[in-house]
Amino acid sequence: MKRRTFIKTSAALSSLVLLPGCGGETASEAAGTAAVTPPLTRLRTAHIGVGVQGLEDLKAVASHDKVDVIALCDVDANNLERAHKLFPDAKVYKDYRVMLKEIGEGVDAVVVATPDHAHAPASMMAMEMGKNVYCQKPLTHHVTEARAMREIAEDKDLVTQMGIQVHSFYDYKLATMLIRSGIIGKVSSVSAWSPKNWGYDGPVPQGEDPVPDYLDWNLWLGTSAERPYKEGIYHPGNWRKLVDYGCGTLGDMGVHIFDTPYNALELDVPKTITTECRPPNGFGFPEKNVVTYEFPGTAYTTENFQWIWSDGEGAPVMHEDLKLPNGDALPDQGAMFVGEKGRLLLPHFQQLPRHIVNGEYVALDLASVPGAVEMGEPVRDYAAESPKHYHQFVDACLGTDEASAPFSYASRLTETILLGVIAGRFPGKKLHWDSEKAQFAEAEANALLDAPYRKF
Ligand SMILES: NC(=O)c1ccc[n+]([C@@H]2O[C@H](COP(=O)([O-])OP(=O)(O)OC[C@H]3O[C@@H](n4cnc5c(N)ncnc54)[C@H](O)[C@@H]3O)[C@@H](O)[C@H]2O)c1
Repeated sequence: MKRRTFIKTSAALSSLVLLPGCGGETASEAAGTAAVTPPLTRLRTAHIGVGVQGLEDLKAVASHDKVDVIALCDVDANNLERAHKLFPDAKVYKDYRVMLKEIGEGVDAVVVATPDHAHAPASMMAMEMGKNVYCQKPLTHHVTEARAMREIAEDKDLVTQMGIQVHSFYDYKLATMLIRSGIIGKVSSVSAWSPKNWGYDGPVPQGEDPVPDYLDWNLWLGTSAERPYKEGIYHPGNWRKLVDYGCGTLGDMGVHIFDTPYNALELDVPKTITTECRPPNGFGFPEKNVVTYEFPGTAYTTENFQWIWSDGEGAPVMHEDLKLPNGDALPDQGAMFVGEKGRLLLPHFQQLPRHIVNGEYVALDLASVPGAVEMGEPVRDYAAESPKHYHQFVDACLGTDEASAPFSYASRLTETILLGVIAGRFPGKKLHWDSEKAQFAEAEANALLDAPYRKF
């Protein structure tokens, strides 16, 4: 069990990522000197980004009866005010660097729900100060950041959790148990799909709009390059479509839908990645993508395992492996495991996995699946299921549970997803990934593993 017993001020921050400075002081200087902390009985939290998902995160974390919300931070004053109305005793900030410096030892955990490009800079600063971190998915915007997040969390022995709340939902846990019980034998491929489209093929916007008085555009851009503000293009939400801030549909939905196959099959990072999509324009992500990953075999897969992701209108392209019994329609989003002895369909979300053998559904025999009966009856209420993942993080910080999607896991899943995002810049080209060196064999792709941090 991960349990923070020490606040360390080691200078061991990964050399891969430079922290965003605040007034010339480093994060570790701001953290003060080393101190031994007694076991936590309550968890004091600070929240960075309280927009659409950040507000959900805030409410879910705070619904744990041992949480005290200490501070809220958002660069959008309207969103900050909305959250502040719910937690009027919390201190409010627009700059997370100022917040983390000021509240110092006054919080135990930080929740990050900014656009993707700010996940790592904010989380890394908090972790460098010894804070436990719940960070939204995908964990980071760049591969080097994902590796740096994993290193610092491990180095400082922090409790961490990525915001993939369905990871803790009944059906996903059941699917993991079913696959590991060998219900379909060794798995040779998984096809996963989402018809969502976080792509944009329009021109790079020209000119500049006045920045609304409630928004701090410089802080929103954060470590990303200077860019003029344009209304409705970036903030809120649409940043997902743009390479400088988001990770497209794969980063948005793939990280949820790939989570169960990734976890159940104990996959590590892939050997090769090929993305079929329109030619990249370097600004917006493609509207439709088919990404094929090849992984080394594991105990639960055949020697060569393939994962095929498709997104955008019309996804997935139908093929034999996806045909359902009785001519049933595929769920809108989901994953199909193909094994030696049958198939398992995992709809996204809140539907039971479906076992298919020789073109027929087979009833699930939960009594023969280790752990399944102990989970009790499926919960079909999102509002009741969703807080579990957050409460698990809180309990892990308090030393009474264990996080199930810590950064040691989330960083590898995120790295895998981000490799597919990078492959979208080289349509049709098979990229070869050397995990040990953290390099592609194709030199041109290596430039996209990282991006310089702007001083802001
Ligand atoms: N787990 C899920 O089911 C789920 C669902 C939706 C979104 N998300 C994730 O949540 C994150 C936020 O998504 P969203 O839909 O809420 O986006 P959003 O654009 O609606 O909200 C982002 C918020 O962060 C604020 N912000 C931006 N930069 C900031 C900074 N430097 N410091 C503090 N605040 C900052 C914005 O002002 C805004 O209020 C993303 O990573 C997204 O992938 C997860």
